[in-house]
Parts: sequence; C-alpha cells; structure tokens
Amino acid sequence: MVPMLLFVLLTIHSWFRWAVVLSTLTVGARYARGWIRRRSWTPTDSALARAWVGAIDIQVSLGLLLYFTASPLADIARQDLRGAWSDDSLRFFGILHPLSMLAAAFVAHAAWIWTRRTEDGANERFRRLGLGVLGVLVLVVLAIPWPFLSYGRPVTRM
Ligand code: HEM
Repeated sequence: MVPMLLFVLLTIHSWFRWAVVLSTLTVGARYARGWIRRRSWTPTDSALARAWVGAIDIQVSLGLLLYFTASPLADIARQDLRGAWSDDSLRFFGILHPLSMLAAAFVAHAAWIWTRRTEDGANERFRRLGLGVLGVLVLVVLAIPWPFLSYGRPVTRM
C-alpha cells in the first residue's frame, strides 16, 4: 500500500514541478514586461497571480503529504535530523528541499499580499509581484533535485 502511495504521489509531485516552474517563468516574464512598458494592470494579471500562488500551494501540499506519509527518505530523516545532515540525499530530501520550498510558498503569498496592498498604481504592482516571482524562481530552481546532482531525479518520471 505504502509503496503504491509513494509511486502515485511522487509521480504527480514530479510532473507538477513543471506547472510550478513554467507558471513562474510565464508570470515573471509578463510582470517584467508590464513593468518595463508601464502598461495598466488588468483583471487577467490578478487571475494569473492567483493561479500561480495556487499552483505552488498544490505542489507544497503534495510535498507535505509525501513527507509525512509515504517518503522513506523523509521518514528516516525525520527520526534523526542531526544524523540526516551528514548524508547528501537525506539532507536534501529531509531538510533542505522542504525548507526551501516552504520558503518559496511564503514568498509567493507575501508578494501577492504586498502587491494588493499598494495604492501606488500598476507599475508598483508589477514591480512588487515581479520581485516576488524572482525570489520564488531562485528558491525553487535551487531546491529541485536536477538529474546532474548526486541525489538527482529524472526530469520526467514515467
Ligand atoms: C514548489 C514546491 C516543490 C517543488 C517544485 C518540488 C519538486 C520536487 C521534485 C521535482 C521531486 C523529485 C520527484 C521525483 O523523484 O521524480 C521532489 C521530491 C520530494 N519532495 Fe518536493 N517539491 C516541492 C515542495 C515540497 C515540499 C514543501 C515538501 C515537504 C514538506 C516536499 C517533499 C518532497 C519529498 C519528501 C521528496 C522525495 C520523496 C522520496 O523520494 O522519498 N516537496 N520534489
């Protein structure tokens, strides 16, 4: 039962990373263009920001499920965090990956709240959200287990 749950959650979590990476790149390019061209803020900009934060929340929920129910690596790491620190794979999947991705979710929510609070117009909105998107992109790209790393995983899981 548990290996089946691990397989299903890991496959969805692996593929859904692309929804997070591609939506981050897409909204980032859109807000950067909006800021440079000084265009006005539209309802589509708000809808895309909500969808982007929502995609991150879904991926983080899947990650939390993996971490607390199915992942053998997270299970071992959770029992001895200090010991996990001296093993590349346990340190990454048990500590660094979850912390960095939770930080990314925090930055996305904070940036969206910060963006909605400004009364300084569209340009300031694009600037605030653009900075948030950049922060998320850095945290997510640094914390993905790319295949070239010693603890790397495939870019597409079958
Ligand atoms: C934007 C957020 C996240 C992204 C983009 C992401 C991405 C990934 C990717 C690409 C993998 C490798 C999947 C594979 O083996 O093919 C992975 C594995 C994993 N993720 Fe995440 N993740 C995110 C958030 C989280 C969070 C918040 C947690 C835990 C609190 C988490 C826990 C895990 C665990 C435990 C594994 C490895 C499970 C195992 O092999 O035993 N992830 N993640």
